[in-house]
Amino acid sequence: MTMRILLTGAAGFIGSHLAEELLNRGHHVVGVDSLTPYYDPAQKRSNLRHALQHPDFSFVEGDLNDLDLEELLDGVDVVHHLAGQPGVRVSWGREFSLYLEQNVLTTQRLLEAARQTSPRRFVLASSSSVYGSAERFPTAEGDTPHPVSPYGLSKLAAEHLCRLYREQFGVSCVMLRYFTVFGPRQRPDMAFSRFIDALRYERPVPIYGDGGQSRDFTYVGDVVSATIAAGERGVPGRLYNVAGGCRATVLEVVQTLARRLEVTPRLEHRPLVPGDPRMTGGDTTLARADLGLQPAVGLEEGLARQIDHQLAVASPADGGHA
Ligand code: NAD
Ligand code: UGA
Repeated sequence: MTMRILLTGAAGFIGSHLAEELLNRGHHVVGVDSLTPYYDPAQKRSNLRHALQHPDFSFVEGDLNDLDLEELLDGVDVVHHLAGQPGVRVSWGREFSLYLEQNVLTTQRLLEAARQTSPRRFVLASSSSVYGSAERFPTAEGDTPHPVSPYGLSKLAAEHLCRLYREQFGVSCVMLRYFTVFGPRQRPDMAFSRFIDALRYERPVPIYGDGGQSRDFTYVGDVVSATIAAGERGVPGRLYNVAGGCRATVLEVVQTLARRLEVTPRLEHRPLVPGDPRMTGGDTTLARADLGLQPAVGLEEGLARQIDHQLAVASPADGGHA
């Protein structure tokens, strides 16, 4: 069935892939993005290139904190809310107000509009960062969240807003906890992007701490499939881990990338940054059952695709964020 979709954060790393796949599947997509300067807006415009060529895509360049959201949600079947302020380690200090505005206030404004327009699903892009120092691995959705960064806390607040609006006003919210996503167009502040650029330009590879921290990395295409399924058949009120099962330490990833790029890495160890969990690992039983999550792209293959994409781009657009 063809649906009308509102996709916030459409020019971002994950949002731009989601836009393209929704269009491939025959949906009408209204993308919204304010092209925030967190990283180069030119990269975001470039992310949108393919979607903009599609007749069923329209783009609204604007800030969710200013736009008339009821008007935007009018006639919308599914809201995919991916817009937000990412970046775990830079969410301390004065920056926190940005996290409140972009992750908490935007979500509340959208939910108020959804309360009036009643979309079939309201899908929130939340984060594994809500777990912080998790009580066990793999971590299940019912385990107690213990964010260790202000970013993680802002995402947990957004989840709670979704819960409130579902319980009080019946908004059909489905919440997805994405685990460190990688692949083509990965944000330039994220580890793999930075590692690939460092290796290709023979610069030292920045490693926080001893590099023994590990993540449950998730390929962007698998995140997109799970997100679309959540918009179609996610159980309202439910939280889902969207984790790829590609467990590796930071040092293991650098070794793999260096092998593929045929260079010897020079590591530059930097102090650990507060807010960085030692490990993440998601139990995906629920997402497998309800959303058909079945990660299709593993670490080796996904890294190869990210390298190919990044090498095809003229110059690194690293905004210098940690
Ligand atoms: P991204 O920064 O590439 O995309 C987010 C987009 O939202 C940006 O293009 C930005 O301009 C836009 N935006 C921010 N505030 C806005 C506002 N007020 N109005 C309109 N647009 C606004 O980030 P991403 O990596 O694609 O992440 C997408 C979502 O998934 C984010 O909510 C992020 O917190 C979440 N997430 C990402 C990861 C990951 O590993 N990349 C993991 C867990 C959760
Ligand atoms: C990522 C995303 O950036 C967040 O938006 C998201 O919410 C989070 O995943 C999540 O899963 O919830 P993070 O896991 O920190 O956050 O992803 P990266 O920035 O790619 O970092 C991965 C690991 O590499 C971290 O342990 C970090 O310390 C390390 N790293 C990163 C380095 O050693 N060097 C760098 O230059 C960058």
